[in-house]
Amino acid sequence: MMRFVLDFLQHPEWKRQHGWRKAIFDAMARLGLTGLHGLPLNRRWIEIHRRAMPLRGLAPSQVGLKIVQISDLHYSPVVWRRYLVQFMDWVNDLEPDIVVVTGDLITGGYNYAGRVAKLLAHIHAANPVICTLGNHDYSMIGKRHPREGRRRADYLEKSLQDQGHIVLRNEVWRLAPTGGGSPLTIVGLDDEWTGSSDPELAFVGVKAADAVICLNHNPANCLALMPYPWQWMLSGHTHGRQLGTSAVGRRLYPHKRRRYTHGYYCVDGRHLYVNRGLAYGQRNHHWCRPEITLFTLEAATASHAAKAASA
Ligand SMILES: [Fe+2]
Repeated sequence: MMRFVLDFLQHPEWKRQHGWRKAIFDAMARLGLTGLHGLPLNRRWIEIHRRAMPLRGLAPSQVGLKIVQISDLHYSPVVWRRYLVQFMDWVNDLEPDIVVVTGDLITGGYNYAGRVAKLLAHIHAANPVICTLGNHDYSMIGKRHPREGRRRADYLEKSLQDQGHIVLRNEVWRLAPTGGGSPLTIVGLDDEWTGSSDPELAFVGVKAADAVICLNHNPANCLALMPYPWQWMLSGHTHGRQLGTSAVGRRLYPHKRRRYTHGYYCVDGRHLYVNRGLAYGQRNHHWCRPEITLFTLEAATASHAAKAASA
């Protein structure tokens, strides 16, 4: 019997599993349970989304550039290395030019800062991995101890930088094109939940005419960021739909209901993408699978603008 179970977990027949997995998930969603689906994980659990990213002001030499987004790794005693490391290979298979990580890299203690930095070092891209921080990078338990939160985030930032990664905390990273034109501009906001986000500082010197992508862990403040000249915002934080959207969860966690939960949104003619993250915690509603997103850059045209305006 044990042999059969081990074989089944190592060589799952995905089509046959699909039905009963979905039934278990639906039952868990109704009960407000979370994370239990982590038990029979396998490589095919991940979903890769491919999407074009039209940008105004994009230099011709940067058309076709590939940006891969991952988010919410939550590396900790609960989310294991062997689970996360497989996704680094999936990212490499996509042959990215730029990889961005939109926050919640760790949930575990300080020792996970160095571990996640080493984990991301498995990624082979043409440029260093670009990271922004999320609420769990500041604290595991809440925001009652802001000084400790700052210390933890600073330690994580240093650990990432020591491995050659870029950390944007209200800062900008630019990729100059070959053959002229404006640089691709990536603005990384710090975590909003802990009050660390400072868009005024982050967008200093950023021109509206440039191709600007904003990394912002929690999409909840998307509308408040409309005064700033971003064209695309890449977020995470929600894990798709969390238990707050289940029948039980709505009673227990009404504050967790969110407007932007997963996927693409056109917000007043701008583009918001909410990645469902990689970790498996709080992922039990509507068959919500972990995600890697691949964006391919293209020059925005008049038809893109008309489509966005009518959305
Ligand atoms: Fe998260």
